[in-house]
Amino acid sequence: MENNRIVGPGFVFAGLVFFLVCGFTQAKDPTANANLSPFQQWRSAYDCLQNTSNLCPGIYELTEGGWVNVSRNQTDDYCKNGCFDHTKWVITCVYYCKRDYVFRNGATIKDINYTVANGCLHGFNGTTYISSSGKILWSKSMAFITIAATWILYKSM
Ligand SMILES: *[C@@H]1O[C@H](CO)[C@@H](O)[C@H](O)[C@H]1NC(C)=O
Ligand SMILES: *[C@@H]1O[C@H](CO)[C@@H](O)[C@H](O)[C@H]1NC(C)=O
Ligand SMILES: *[C@@H]1O[C@H](CO)[C@@H](O)[C@H](O)[C@H]1NC(C)=O
Ligand SMILES: *[C@@H]1O[C@H](CO)[C@@H](O)[C@H](O)[C@H]1NC(C)=O
Ligand SMILES: *[C@@H]1O[C@H](CO)[C@@H](O)[C@H](O)[C@H]1NC(C)=O
Repeated sequence: MENNRIVGPGFVFAGLVFFLVCGFTQAKDPTANANLSPFQQWRSAYDCLQNTSNLCPGIYELTEGGWVNVSRNQTDDYCKNGCFDHTKWVITCVYYCKRDYVFRNGATIKDINYTVANGCLHGFNGTTYISSSGKILWSKSMAFITIAATWILYKSM
């Protein structure tokens, strides 16, 4: 009894690790999955973001962090060398897997779409547009992931 209580937080942590490993090793074509559970949707969306391209080197790469901090003088570089198109592919992929996906910075898919579309139309300014709804959604999905990960670990034992 005493022991059980001590390993409590460890459980959650181990669950998260297990969850991340699952995410990393999942099947290749994330858009092929229709009708997935919310948990699987999240994993597939994550897989979309694993599609990195040499068209988007360094800071141009869209990660789970969600930042697209392209400065004004990098606009042409970003938009005309294929990174814009690759980024559109990534967010479309994420959108098909999980419409309400929220990046770690609180940006929604719509926010990223707006940032890159507006950036390539009028020039980037080094910031990423983040609507107010994102932050709330992010904390919700974080709580969900923790619960889901713990549950999976529990089931696997
Ligand atoms: C943009 O300007 C910064 C300095 O303000 C410079 O370090 C960087 O190399 C420039 N990038 C491009 C693509 O011109
Ligand atoms: C990765 O993204 C490119 C678009 O830039 C797309 O053509 C390609 O099919 C994607 N690869 C996978 C494995 O989904
Ligand atoms: C991004 O915006 C464009 C233009 O408004 C729209 O056609 C496209 O469907 C949007 N993509 C996503 C993934 O929301
Ligand atoms: C910078 O770009 C973002 C995203 O496109 C936009 O929301 C914001 O209004 C811009 N800020 C300025 C000062 O132009
Ligand atoms: C992008 O800009 C935001 C603030 O505008 C900052 O908090 C964030 O750390 C920056 N991200 C990167 C990758 O530079």
